[in-house]
Formats: sequence, C-alpha cells, structure tokens
Amino acid sequence: MFEKTELLPADPILGLSKMFREDPRANKIDLGVGVFRTKDGATPIMAAVKEAQQIVVNTETTKAYTPADGAPGFADNILKLLLGADSEAYREGYCSAVQTPGGCGALRLAGEILARNGVDGLTVGSPTWANHIPLLGAAGISIHTIPYYDTANSEIDFGGFIEGVRKLGPKDVLLLHGSCHNPTGADLSQDQINQLIELALERGFLPFIDTAYHGFAKGLDNDAWIVRQMVERLPEVLVSYSCSKNFGLYRERTGALILKGKTVERTKALHSQAISIARGIYSMPPAHGGAIVNEILSSPELTAMWKKELEAMRSLVIDNRNQFVSVAQSTSLGNRLDFISGQNGMFSLLPISSEIVEKLRVEHAVYAVGGGRINVCGVNNGNVQRLVEVLATVIV
Ligand code: LMR
Repeated sequence: MFEKTELLPADPILGLSKMFREDPRANKIDLGVGVFRTKDGATPIMAAVKEAQQIVVNTETTKAYTPADGAPGFADNILKLLLGADSEAYREGYCSAVQTPGGCGALRLAGEILARNGVDGLTVGSPTWANHIPLLGAAGISIHTIPYYDTANSEIDFGGFIEGVRKLGPKDVLLLHGSCHNPTGADLSQDQINQLIELALERGFLPFIDTAYHGFAKGLDNDAWIVRQMVERLPEVLVSYSCSKNFGLYRERTGALILKGKTVERTKALHSQAISIARGIYSMPPAHGGAIVNEILSSPELTAMWKKELEAMRSLVIDNRNQFVSVAQSTSLGNRLDFISGQNGMFSLLPISSEIVEKLRVEHAVYAVGGGRINVCGVNNGNVQRLVEVLATVIV
C-alpha cells in the first residue's frame, strides 16, 4: 500500500522550531514560530488562565461529549468579546460562532463551507501566513494571490492590492488578516479598510477575516475594528478566531469560526453547515481550552486580570520592537530597520531572501522563517547586539 508514499518536508514554521530545539549552539536566537515570549525567553501560562483552569478542574463533573459548537458559553463569550455585547449583530443574532480546534480548525472549516457552496476562488494578499494556502487549498478551493507588501521598501503595496481586489466578483472570497499581519506586521489603515468595504459592497465578494492576534496590535477594541465594521456594513462575513496568542492557549487548540449570513435564518443555515462539516472531520472541538476561556470571560474579575496581562504582553512586544530598532540604528544599518517600530504584533519581514535566511541559521544560529519573517519576541537584552551586527552583514 505505502511503497511509493512520499517523504514530505517538515512544515516551514514548526519544522524550524524542531531544528532550533535540536541546535546545540549556546548563542542561538529564535525568531521563528509565532509564540509570545518574555525577555527571559519563557512563554508562561497567564495567571488568569491558571486561575480559570483550576476552577474548571475543580468544578467539572463529567467528561461526556460537549455540544457540537463547543464548551458551553464559549461561543457566546467570543462573539461578545469580538463584536461588542451592544452591537446589533450580536444582539439580533446576525452572527453565530462555533468553537474549533484552534484558528487552523476555523480556517479549514470555513474552507470546507466555501467549497460546498460553489465559491470561485479565494484571494489573498502576498505574502501571507505559510499555512494559509496549504490549509485552505486542501479544502478544495482554488487560491489566488495578489500583491500586499513591498518587501524591498518595507511597506504595504496598497495600489497593487486594491487593483487585485477590484477584479473580484460575487463568487469570490477575500482573505484578510484581522490585526498583526502575518508575516509582515503591516496592517491596513482604517481608511484602507473603508475602501475595501466600499468595494465589497460594489463587487459583492465575501470578506473572510483571519483574527489570530486579537489584542496584540493596538488593544482589544481597536483590533476588532475591521471585524466590527465589516459585520455592521456588509451582508456576509466569515471570521476565523484564535485564542492561542491572546489567551496563551496554543497547545489547547482553542479557536472559533464566526459566521454572518444575510439574515438570521441564513446565519442559522451556515451554523448548521459548520456543525455538520465538523462532525465529518473531528466531531467536536476539544473542551478544555474553551472551558477556560468561558470561565475567564464570564467573570468580571478574571476578565480584568486577563486584559491586564494581555496589555502587558502587547507592550513588551512594542518594547522589543523599539529596542531592536534603536540598537540597529547604532550599526551600519542606520535607519534601514526603522519600519519595524511602527508595525503590529510579533512579526516583521526583513528585506532578505530565503537563501540569506538559511545562511543566518547555518552560519550564525539565527532562526528566522523563510522569506525573512522574524518574531520580535525572540529579541532580548542578551542577544540584540549580536543579532543586529549579524543582520548588518546581510542587509544593505
Ligand atoms: C506562526 O505563524 O508562527 C504561528 O501561527 C504558529 C503556526 O502554527 O504557524
């Protein structure tokens, strides 16, 4: 049966983490996988999560199956957090959510719904997260790329992007990044988002917003702006949501797919599709992470504690960006990396080729993702000097 089964290469991001772990060099620097880290290189469990988890463990009475849409209360709390409890979309039931196994599960579930509903194709700005195209392509939809970022000039190529968006029609889907664009860290401005909304109204394409870093750019409400605006002004919207980063629940695989149809009835139909497709793939999502998030968001005290911790993580990432840029300024790089301090979330894209990325890893034990993506959480007092000195030798 498997005589001809091909040996596949490792995942470009997760495979890099494995190489990093196995690298014996003491001065190695991890700028790879998108995981928050403190200045000591740790990814601690958030205190609110610890407390909520203890409550979950102490109060749970069964391990019987959860409902198909996830841990009770989770989906409703995510909708309130993302849309705002006062929003019409939430109050009138225009949106519904199902818990998924992480943001990846939400993306794939959406991909399957799109494939079943005769979508022409999904368009995404390039570059995008390394797993978007394989993951959504595996659902059987064709994927098209349009320009998004001008790496040489380290800025969004909005002209190129909007030109691609203008060609979309009612059977097209446009994949957008909610905040903290992965891999560039360069988010669309509110004005640019407004232009996209106008175009969506005119051309009829469906926006699908991947929201994996809610709260890491400018704060929870600000980062939700794109979703709130699109949900308020457009008839149909899909949102994939991840609790990996903002709740630090990476390994618990906790996410959600949020669906908005033209009417409450249409939303219910979409919801039923999501549940039926999930049943055919994984039956129902794992409960633990969803129960923790529900516990936090149902308690004003735990919510306040979580928000404070999230805010501290957000400002540490900003500090790292600023530290990186100011040390870079003291080398021959001068102002070349200044763009990094104005970007959002953990990632920025260095103006280097994948060959240089490889050279950095092999010769200097500096681990960046192919294409030049770095996670600024890997920058700290102990390594920033060596890092910028190495980069000064490869960036001109
Ligand atoms: C990343 O982009 O590094 C994270 O989202 C982790 C992953 O699964 O790739």
